Amino acid sequence: MIGIFDSGLGGLSVLAAIARVLPRADLVYLADTAHVPYGDKPDDFIRGRVLAIGRHLVAQGCDLLVVACNTATAHAVTELRQQHPGIPVVGVEPGVKPAAQGSRSGRIAVLATEATARSERLRRLIREHAGNVDVRIQPCPGWATRIETLNLDGEELDADIRDKVQPLLDAGADHIVLGCTHYAFLMPALLRLVAGRAQLVDVAEAIARQVARLYVRPEGNARLHLQATARPERLHAALPALGLNWLAARAHGASLATP
Ligand code: DGL
Repeated sequence: MIGIFDSGLGGLSVLAAIARVLPRADLVYLADTAHVPYGDKPDDFIRGRVLAIGRHLVAQGCDLLVVACNTATAHAVTELRQQHPGIPVVGVEPGVKPAAQGSRSGRIAVLATEATARSERLRRLIREHAGNVDVRIQPCPGWATRIETLNLDGEELDADIRDKVQPLLDAGADHIVLGCTHYAFLMPALLRLVAGRAQLVDVAEAIARQVARLYVRPEGNARLHLQATARPERLHAALPALGLNWLAARAHGASLATP
């Protein structure tokens, strides 16, 4: 069974990509909704949550973990791997490398949570894969919460997006990296502003391909368990609003988890 987790709904974008490439695999998705968002929390708090959730998923029998959260990966994937040396752990990091490789203007931007934006791991990723391009990091406080409350459309959202993204376009960024798994659900709103000017880079499909390469038990019973640390019924009910009705049909509700 593959264990996939995030602070909330964002990692569902990664879950969906994995369920598409491994349609028979057994999956469990855990949303740490009692503590969402992670992006405005201290580093130690994020690390503590990731390690507790990792233990919880492994105790349920997960034999591959996917940290479907850039913030959690930035602050805790190394420790999580140390705690579970026998289990592959796949983290999610902003697609800085493909953006840098595809850039013609030599300018790219990363939209991320505050915690990812300040992380040393993001700085290292940029040094290693985007040394020859100009990279702007744009923190987007409040965006993950918008998605949690299914506030995915409207003028106020467009204004917020314009506020953060227009200066990046004006500065010549031709690739804008979605450095938070929640932001995949803002794709239509983001495209309204950037279409024809910059490309949006999301890594969910690349992560799913990596999981498929690593996973040794792809033929399961196509089971999907949804778990949340608060209000699990909201997790299941959110799926249609996120365009994931097909996952809702597979999940048969959601249960409370207390890692
Ligand atoms: N979805 C997460 C990420 O990829 C975290 C968002 C949050 O909880 O602030 O960074």
